[in-house]
Amino acid sequence: MRYAICYVSTVNPALSETEIQKALEFSKNWNNDNGITGILLYSEGNFFQVLEGGEQLLKDLFCRIKADERHNNIIPIFQKQIPGTKFETYEADFISLDDRYKDEHFDIYFAHISLLDPSIQSSVKYILNNFTEGIN
Ligand SMILES: Cc1cc2nc3c(=O)[nH]c(=O)nc-3n(C[C@H](O)[C@H](O)[C@H](O)COP(=O)(O)O)c2cc1C
Repeated sequence: MRYAICYVSTVNPALSETEIQKALEFSKNWNNDNGITGILLYSEGNFFQVLEGGEQLLKDLFCRIKADERHNNIIPIFQKQIPGTKFETYEADFISLDDRYKDEHFDIYFAHISLLDPSIQSSVKYILNNFTEGIN
């Protein structure tokens, strides 16, 4: 059984854009090395992340993420088991969303979401739409 975690959080205001990019890059590498799929977006002070992977691996990772002082106000949206053999081999790309937002990126986010487990796609789309509102 795969597990999925989705949350939003607020960036630590002391963080520079370079440090944010570093966190995104680290996440991308570690997750790809450990068979975790999903997306991590940064937009105007907030993070939005969806993670899919082995249950224990993800729970342990989420403990580390929650303890990370680079962000706070972590609001879990869902944490649940998902029936997910279909996307077992999918390697997610992580996309940062910032002031230099470009229209074509939006298509990429939705392409990524369509690769997530079908049972969580609609809620992720809904949240993502709200998350990106005002940028479009
Ligand atoms: C918004 C945010 C998202 C993160 N997402 C991940 C992630 O998906 N995978 C990961 O390995 N680390 C992620 N990290 C980094 C972890 O919080 C943590 O620094 C990392 O797992 C290393 O753990 P350690 O500092 O206890 O060694 C994220 C950090 C932040 C601020």
